[in-house]
This record gives sequence, C-alpha cells and structure tokens, in this order.
Amino acid sequence: MSILKKLALAAGIATALSSAAMAADMTVGFSQIGSESGWRAAETSVTKQQAESRGINLKFADAQQKQENQIKAIRGFIAQGVDAILVAPVVATGWEDVLSEAKEAKIPVILLDRGIDGPEDLYLTSVASDQVKEGKVAGDWLVGTVKDKDCRVVELQGTVGSTPAINRKKGFEEAIAGHSNISIVRSQTGDFTRSKGKEVMEGFLKAENGGKNICAVYAHNDDMAVGAIQAIKDAGLKPGTDILVVSIDGVPDLFSAMAAGEANATVELTPNMAGPAFDALAAYKKDGTMPPKFIITESKLYTPADDPKGEAERRKSLGY
Ligand code: AHR
Repeated sequence: MSILKKLALAAGIATALSSAAMAADMTVGFSQIGSESGWRAAETSVTKQQAESRGINLKFADAQQKQENQIKAIRGFIAQGVDAILVAPVVATGWEDVLSEAKEAKIPVILLDRGIDGPEDLYLTSVASDQVKEGKVAGDWLVGTVKDKDCRVVELQGTVGSTPAINRKKGFEEAIAGHSNISIVRSQTGDFTRSKGKEVMEGFLKAENGGKNICAVYAHNDDMAVGAIQAIKDAGLKPGTDILVVSIDGVPDLFSAMAAGEANATVELTPNMAGPAFDALAAYKKDGTMPPKFIITESKLYTPADDPKGEAERRKSLGY
C-alpha cells in the first residue's frame, strides 16, 4: 500500500472513531407515538438497537398515542439537557410551542416517520417516506389491476390528523383520478390498529350488501388490512379474491397473508428511520454539517410475485 493510501486509510479510521466517540457521549430522548402497529413496534426496536450499537444513551418515552404525552416527554428531555430529541409526531399540528422551547435550549430535534405542520427551522431534519407517493403506488397498483372493471373501494384511514393518513389518502386519490370506473365509496379511520381496522371493515361489509358491492379495500397500513382480512373471512368472503386488499408497511403478517392468497399488494416502509437520523446527528454534532431537511426513505411495491413467504422470513431481522 502506498504511503498516501495508508494516510487516507488512517484519516478515515480516525474520522469514523471520532464520530463513534462523539455518538458514545450522546444522550438522546426519543418520544415514540405508542405501539399501535407491528411496524411501530419494529421501529421502536430498531431505534433501540441503532442507539446501542453506536453507544448512544437513549431515553425512551411511549406516548400511548397521545400528543399531550409527547409534549410532556419532550419538555422532560429539555429539562434533562439531552443532546438531541427524536420525535415521531402522532398528529401534524400543535408542535410549535414545544419545539420552539427545544430550539431555545439549543437541542436539535429530528422528526421520525411523520411530519408536522410548522416552520422547518424547528427541526434539524425529518426522516420519513414520501407518503403521498406511497398512496400513489398503492392506487397505481389498483388501477393497473382492475383495468376497465368497475371497482368500488372502501378505505381504512390512519390516525385522524396524522401526516400518513392525510398524504396516503391524497396519493391514492391522485392515482385513481381520471379512472371513473374506480371510486372510494366509504372511508373511515381505523387509527392504524388491527382491532379498529377489523371493526370498521365489519361496518363497511354490512353497509355494502355483505361485502358483495366491494371490489377492494385500501388500508393506510398493514395492521388495519390484516384486521380487514379477518372481517372479510368472517363475512364468508375470500380476501384477496372476492375483495382485493392493498395496504402500506410491509410487515411480516401481511406477507404471510399474501403468501396465503389473502392480500394482493403492500408498499414497504422501512422501520429503520433511526439509522439515517443518528448519522445526520453525528455529522451535525461533529462539525456542524447540516443534513438535508428531508431524508426520504424508499417506497417499494410488493405483490405475490415477490416471494411473500421469503419476505415474511427476511423481515424477522428487521426488528419485527
Ligand atoms: O407513520 C407511519 C405509520 O404509523 C405506519 O405506516 C403505521 O403502521 C404506523 O402506525
């Protein structure tokens, strides 16, 4: 190895070590929404793993789906003088006061997986998917699948006022606009949970001739889709055949349903939001490097052609 290469290698190792050392000194507060879905539970475990592998002391607060608990937790982190705060905001509005307090205390805030309606200078970066795109990918799949056939869709929305619920609805509607054979005939929140997804789907089935008038269910997450699949089976219909099922997340249970022929498509959302967030934070703490305002994760469509059984297995190493 030339002397130049050796020097470059040594400099690289020194940079990596100093970033790691910097991370090891950090205490980061994480205000998580709760554990409403399989995806959420995986995001929590990946965040804990990522923190541990970087030597970051993570202070975890579960908000039980309540914004007031998140605000309380963030104020607690500020009072403790943490080095940074991660927050997955349950809803989009109502963050300005508490995030201004963090800014005032010079504590960088990183948004994970959901956005806020508020000034961009209140957070260092936001690591999330393009949620409009997710809805669009799901809608495009339906358009391509039903072609000219009439299709009455029922929609299970996520938590009211959350950015994924707002944006996934928008993207899906954009995809089906101009296709007059496809229409959303019923739409209600299932709050991103399996139990509410099932309950709301039962109501849709009753209202739509026992489900005979429904061509497809579009669920804003896989857990609600899994609940809907159970409701469809209980009504004596075949999910995936009598009623198409399309959703978002890519959790193992949905892939298992797909392998059994009971689900038709899902758009993957990685649970690893913390990795890019901690990378951005380490660089910022090291020399003030400003990350991009939005770090966008991939939104990939999976169908039964994509080895769903194998995908369910592979997900086990991703925090599920
Ligand atoms: O914000 C991401 C969404 O929140 C996931 O798609 C859903 O499963 C979770 O509850």
